[in-house]
Amino acid sequence: MPQKPKNKNNQNIYILGIESSCDDTAAAVLKNGKIISNKVANQAVHEQYGGVVPELASRAHQQNIVPVVDLALKEAGITPYELSAIAFTKGPGLLGSLLVGASFAKSMSLALDIPLIGIHHMKAHVLAHFIKDDKMELPEFPFLALTISGGHTQIVQVNNYFDFKILGETLDDAVGEAFDKSAKIMGLPYPGGPLIDKYAQKGNPKAYKFPKPKVKGLNFSFSGLKTSILYFLQKQQQKDPDFISNNLYDLSASIQYTIVNILIDKLKIAVIETGINRIAIAGGVSANSGIRQALLKAQKDWGWKVYIPNFEYTTDNAAMIAIVGYLKYQAGQFDTYNLIPKARIPLND
Ligand code: KG4
Ligand code: ZN
Repeated sequence: MPQKPKNKNNQNIYILGIESSCDDTAAAVLKNGKIISNKVANQAVHEQYGGVVPELASRAHQQNIVPVVDLALKEAGITPYELSAIAFTKGPGLLGSLLVGASFAKSMSLALDIPLIGIHHMKAHVLAHFIKDDKMELPEFPFLALTISGGHTQIVQVNNYFDFKILGETLDDAVGEAFDKSAKIMGLPYPGGPLIDKYAQKGNPKAYKFPKPKVKGLNFSFSGLKTSILYFLQKQQQKDPDFISNNLYDLSASIQYTIVNILIDKLKIAVIETGINRIAIAGGVSANSGIRQALLKAQKDWGWKVYIPNFEYTTDNAAMIAIVGYLKYQAGQFDTYNLIPKARIPLND
């Protein structure tokens, strides 16, 4: 069992991170908490289906994982024998995809006789803020994390590296899904979130008004927004069949404005309820320019302290897996080969 670190080179801690929870196969190497390589193979195969096809995703992971890990090690300039431990995503995610990363990580850890460390994907999105990077400031505990991705929307109180408390979450669609489904209704390719962001920059955010969901407390709901956009567009297209293409920029800006307002409104409540005004954003949607601008405005107007990650750490990546591997390595938190990835796991698992 890989319980004890070998620390063969004694001074430097090299962690290999592997991420395969959805449709990106990623590998990264961290040296003492600093990234020395960060590689990802995207899967174009899903574009034609308008969403990720799980079966195709696991097959593509099988094809990509060896070359991606190999490339990450080569770019890091180290051999596998210099690694101190291997960290991999244990969930949540698509089970078939997770199994590819887990089996690969287990085999490599067994062959090299070094510790194996399973990582929670959503925690990794948040803890990506602790990657030692000159362009990013380390958050101070406790802070609130707004985790916004294609699968999750949560406000989490982060007390320390390993103590997370969910204060609120979505009752239906995740915010990334709200972006992607709205984009799909407008005929944009998958994933449409980044496209809405791009078009929104040229549009008027107040051109169209979409209703905000009435959900109490710190929970979210996004499924109603998608339906109201659908009905609104159907009605407009009866009058003008080219309504979407003629108004793509204004539509994108208005959708983004509505979503960002929903997120900021809940953060305001969370800040009042907890008395914590340090906010970090994490997950794929944290790349969105609307949420970034709104938070910077909140920092200026309301005195919040906001932590915004570099773009490379927003969407799924292995650097975030490796940094949690590094933190767990230092805390001596290792896993056994009995660890089985799961599609759903509680945040503090
Ligand atoms: O964290 P992530 O890479 O994968 C999951 O764990 O889900 O997040 C992917 C999501 C997708 O829904 C994508 O459309 C969204 O993040 N996304 C964006 C932007 N960049 C990525 N949504 C809005 N604006 C963006 N700039
Ligand atoms: Zn993710």
